Amino acid sequence: MTQSRIGQWSSRWLFILAATGSAVGLGNIWKFPYITGENGGGMFVLMYLGLILVIGIPVLMAEIMLGRRGGQSPVKSLEVVAQESGQPKTWGWLGFAGILTAFFLLSIYSVIAGWSASYVFRAFSGAFAGLDAQQIVMMYDSFIANPKQLMLWHTVFMGVTALIVSRGLQNGVETAIQILVPGLFIILLILVGYSITTPGFKEGVVFLFKPDFSMITASSFLLALGQAFFTLSIATASMLIYGAYLAKNASIFKAGCSIAVLDTLSALLAGLAIFPIVYTYGLLPDEGVGLVFKTLPLAFGEMPYGRMFGGLFFLLLVFAALGSSISMVEPIVAWVTQRWNIVRVKASWLVAGLIWLVGVGSVLSFNVWQDYRLFGRWNYYELLDDLVFMLLLPLGGLLIAIFAGWFMKRQFSFAELEMPPALYSLWRFSIRFLAPIAVIVLVIVTFM
Ligand code: PHE
Repeated sequence: MTQSRIGQWSSRWLFILAATGSAVGLGNIWKFPYITGENGGGMFVLMYLGLILVIGIPVLMAEIMLGRRGGQSPVKSLEVVAQESGQPKTWGWLGFAGILTAFFLLSIYSVIAGWSASYVFRAFSGAFAGLDAQQIVMMYDSFIANPKQLMLWHTVFMGVTALIVSRGLQNGVETAIQILVPGLFIILLILVGYSITTPGFKEGVVFLFKPDFSMITASSFLLALGQAFFTLSIATASMLIYGAYLAKNASIFKAGCSIAVLDTLSALLAGLAIFPIVYTYGLLPDEGVGLVFKTLPLAFGEMPYGRMFGGLFFLLLVFAALGSSISMVEPIVAWVTQRWNIVRVKASWLVAGLIWLVGVGSVLSFNVWQDYRLFGRWNYYELLDDLVFMLLLPLGGLLIAIFAGWFMKRQFSFAELEMPPALYSLWRFSIRFLAPIAVIVLVIVTFM
């Protein structure tokens, strides 16, 4: 490789920490519990675990591998890797697609992260105490109906993200991640510790782990696959750039497995923290999107030390979201600095500012623009949400698997992954066949 690499983690442990911070996010603490709740619990969890193992980890490894092999910003990395295997430079577009996905994803992600930040203060100040179910829902409804409030928190969240990324890989990203990731696991353990003492613990565990085979449906399978990609931060160029910063002598196989294990552990712990509380306070597990903001506060309002536990819970969401948002901004900033020759500080504020701007549309679509529908169907937020989740993420994951499996030369991926031959063959089988077929089925079924 002719060019020198664009940066390097201080240690491979920091890479694992940062990649775990990326992987553990709203997807784990907010989304995983509510889609599990809506899809019957244990059976869904089992399917999700299987998909992570068989498809998620191999594709995650593929993305990290492409990044490390290239050693550059996402677009350039893919160009380098493509050319080395005698493929056209146009594969660089796949890196660009990842950047675009990160851009749009963060514009909506930041809005929800902002809600969590606002709820940290509500919870710690005791705002849920003594409210009944209806009043909690009213609190939520009037909050999202208030564009100024949402804008404030969206701005704060993007500002903090920009500040961290602008300080550079070592001073910014590594420093932040060393606080956020251990912090979030400590909070999770405290919350699970509380959950264990509640009378609903057993019911929660049964719900989470007892598979009911009648619950396997095509749609829950597809949901689990989408969630597996999303939760491992695949297809947003995040793992490409984090891989580009990874030292040559680190094992991608071991790193990929550690990241997936920690990510899965955090999702399961979040489920273990949440469902016992849901059962103890007579709430419903299948409350959907509102589970975290409309259901749980009721329990926090009633339980002993509910202020503290509630505050910690929303803080957990913010920590998790920050580790993720950093990893969505980083690939874009790396690209902007390399492609346009702009210094990191400027690039960070510019990128975050643009994402913020696009996010304003989502803020408004919860209130002022609520009735404004594109093609009579989507509001602005829903449009971006569908664009990212139905199109960009699955397609990005598909193309990464196809590129690494069919276009990159076998000798290069073999050299880069340094796995025992039998495991390497399994990896290759997954990214050449299993992952593409699963995603293609997903896309076809979704659009039928
Ligand atoms: N993995 C994150 C989550 O579970 C989301 C994410 C996707 C973060 C892509 C970075 C990049 O919430």
